[in-house]
Amino acid sequence: MIIKASTNVEYVVKSTQKVRENKVFTGTNVALNQRSFSVVDTLPTTNDPQVKGMELLESLPNISYDDIGGLDEQIQEIRETVELPLLKPELFKKIGIEPPKGALFYGPPGTGKTLLAKAVAHETKSTFIRVVGSELVQKFIGEGARLIREIFELAKNKAPTILFIDELDAIAATRIEDATSGDREVSRTLMQLLSELDGFDNRGDVKFIGATNRIDMLDNAILRPGRFDRLIEFPIPNELSRELIFNIHTKNLNADQTIDLKKYAQLTEGKTGSDIKAICTEAGMNAIRRNSEIITNQDFLNGINKVIKKDKNDLSKSNLFI
Ligand SMILES: Nc1ncnc2c1ncn2[C@@H]1O[C@H](COP(=O)(O)OP(=O)(O)O)[C@@H](O)[C@H]1O
Ligand SMILES: [Mg+2]
Repeated sequence: MIIKASTNVEYVVKSTQKVRENKVFTGTNVALNQRSFSVVDTLPTTNDPQVKGMELLESLPNISYDDIGGLDEQIQEIRETVELPLLKPELFKKIGIEPPKGALFYGPPGTGKTLLAKAVAHETKSTFIRVVGSELVQKFIGEGARLIREIFELAKNKAPTILFIDELDAIAATRIEDATSGDREVSRTLMQLLSELDGFDNRGDVKFIGATNRIDMLDNAILRPGRFDRLIEFPIPNELSRELIFNIHTKNLNADQTIDLKKYAQLTEGKTGSDIKAICTEAGMNAIRRNSEIITNQDFLNGINKVIKKDKNDLSKSNLFI
């Protein structure tokens, strides 16, 4: 068989009987014996989302803007940059401006970045593709650039699409001059991402949303206009926002009159939306442990204590390494 390695070099190699009995076509991915380079097995196609380590959702579960608490400005902004161009491309044409290609979400973990990206896909009835930056770089050494190309192709084929690139910092970390081979891999993947973004013929039906916990780690190149046009910050929620988030996550809970969401919001300074969700789940677990079907104030207070304590423990653990 003639095979082509990821380095673009071609080889004529032997193959096993088993492989020849399998259906092998041009373009099939194969596994090689490490020494002889003979073909020993066929591999699943790279169009398989599992292989690429990404999440592809063609119809999203019901996540709407109403399920997101305390992020009104962020929702407003993403509606202008992503929703409007998807739903009313003619508006931009008439006025004569280029619609934005997408946005970059930044802020601490658990503040709702993934949640909002999914909500936009749901509200615009778009395909949602989530790619995780660290996986692109680690799992597919030497293949990152090719995968980026294939993912953009897939996004086009499934349009309208929200292409969500999570942990963007893993591929877009500031390029270092004297790079080790790992870093070189990162920049090759990054260059491919940038060139796909630049060359993307913007008919408006594929939108890009990047997310990062570390805006300070991002290469300036990625923030240039025509790439991720808008920067949207996801802060740690303030007291009012926390109350709104408690409201959302208790909506479907069977709780009694004693619960006091205002008070819980006061008690959870510095906690994120994902912590609040954990507190509500913990409160429910407490009720189950008591053999009760109704969640009480005390269940919530215990839940808050547990989640706050867990964070403190994590902190003291990480202090050990300092
Ligand atoms: N603003 C919010 N409103 C409601 N729920 C939230 C909010 N932020 C986070 N959550 C909850 O926490 C979970 C994790 O949040 P996620 O969007 O994955 O955070 P991030 O992507 O910023 O790390 C969400 O699925 C949701 O249940
Ligand atoms: Mg996330």
